[in-house]
Amino acid sequence: MKNIAVLASGRGSNLEAIIKNIEKGTLQANLACVISDNKDARALQITRDHGFKALYLDPGPKKTWLLPEFEENYVKTLQEHNVDLVCLAGFMRIIKKPLLEAFKGRILNIHPALLPSFPGLEVQKKALEYGVRFSGCTVHFVTEDVDAGPIITQAVVPVLDDDTPDTLAARILKEEHRIYTEAINIILSGKYKIEGRRIIRTG
Ligand code: GAR
Repeated sequence: MKNIAVLASGRGSNLEAIIKNIEKGTLQANLACVISDNKDARALQITRDHGFKALYLDPGPKKTWLLPEFEENYVKTLQEHNVDLVCLAGFMRIIKKPLLEAFKGRILNIHPALLPSFPGLEVQKKALEYGVRFSGCTVHFVTEDVDAGPIITQAVVPVLDDDTPDTLAARILKEEHRIYTEAINIILSGKYKIEGRRIIRTG
């Protein structure tokens, strides 16, 4: 069984869904560790409650990314845990060279919009303001360009007339919990090929 690690900064509901699916056997992976840049993250508590390894790693002085020496420490920890695939689940920092090079093509992220629409932050608010009738979520490979890597899977949800950013976020989140596991299973199975930007399933 392949080893995954989850990096999470906060609430950890996607992490929780991943853990539950591992426990149920619907996600065929071993959770080697969960790493957070926030020592108070609920994600770390959930991890401990389920008996998995939870680690806080100092993110250093920058707010939205990790200085190279701090990111190197993330790399070292992931390597020490023999991690095959890194899954970002609400990890609110931009990933840079050290991690991207050490885990080339082996980092996934989940984003609460239908990329390439609405990259970045506060995307449910942006979707409402723009007036789209559908939004959703995307699991994609992480590359140097933020929220722009090849797409593995997406799910669509309707935008309702009385939606607020919170009600839309909740509808999207439900789908996030479902498709992240689906995407991880696809990548770990190796049953896909990459043609340009397209990830095509082969099994
Ligand atoms: C999720 O909606 C995830 O898609 C989003 O943060 C939330 C984390 O929730 N990620 C991003 O916006 C990344 N740019 P969770 O901690 O409950 O999984």
